[in-house]
Amino acid sequence: MSVTPYADISTGKKEQVEKMFNEIAFRYDLLNQLLSFGIHKRWRRKAIRMINSELITQNPELLDVATGTADFAIDAMALNPRKITGIDISDDMLSFGRKKLEEKDLSRRIELVHADSENLPFPDNYFDAATVGFGVRNFENLEKGLAEVCRTLKKGGMFAVLEFSIPEKFPMKQLYHFYLSTICPLLGKRISKNPIAYEYLFKSVSSFPYGEKFKSILLTCGFTEARVFPQTSGIVTIYIAKK
Ligand SMILES: C[S@@+](CC[C@H](N)C(=O)[O-])C[C@H]1O[C@@H](n2cnc3c(N)ncnc32)[C@H](O)[C@@H]1O
Repeated sequence: MSVTPYADISTGKKEQVEKMFNEIAFRYDLLNQLLSFGIHKRWRRKAIRMINSELITQNPELLDVATGTADFAIDAMALNPRKITGIDISDDMLSFGRKKLEEKDLSRRIELVHADSENLPFPDNYFDAATVGFGVRNFENLEKGLAEVCRTLKKGGMFAVLEFSIPEKFPMKQLYHFYLSTICPLLGKRISKNPIAYEYLFKSVSSFPYGEKFKSILLTCGFTEARVFPQTSGIVTIYIAKK
């Protein structure tokens, strides 16, 4: 059974995820910074460097799926793109993202569009590379979302996924479990005023496939190769896949 933010069984995961991110959008960046002690920026930049070392196209056309407040899209400017398109289902996350782009004078280089990863409004074989940061865990239909990204990538196109995983060694495994199950929900609730979002974070991370399991899902969704790079003792993992 899929893990959903709210207990309400009358709405699907996608609607619930959209509602939850709309509610916490005003505090999303602050909580990301606080709860990760600022390391989240390093993980995204590392994923971009990994793509950069293998991307053959100059001035690539890029897609950032589940872009939220556009942090991954902004970091992808390092790839010297022709254009970056960021898509998300949460209008409020996109609004905060657009404000950030204006402040950084990037609105003409990065376009943010309301769209669903499971039904991307782009043609086949269109993008040179795609990224998704902390998004795949929230998809209602994981395989459909990944297959859609694969469809819109050109042959040989690169895909970087950044997602939480679970450290396997003592004491990080135990510390991380305590931090994610106790500290994050407490701080998250206090700062975002949303009682469930950071409980959902713990529940969804605990049940999400990671490592070799996620790699095999990428391969069944159409990617021809996929590699797994655990970061910070396995708290998160970067996956680099190729169409
Ligand atoms: C944890 S945030 C990540 C935001 C950003 N990528 C980052 O690295 O900080 C997850 C985002 O995924 C979006 N999302 C979830 N399901 C989606 C879907 N099916 N299509 C597009 N976006 C989706 C949510 O609205 C939310 O903004």
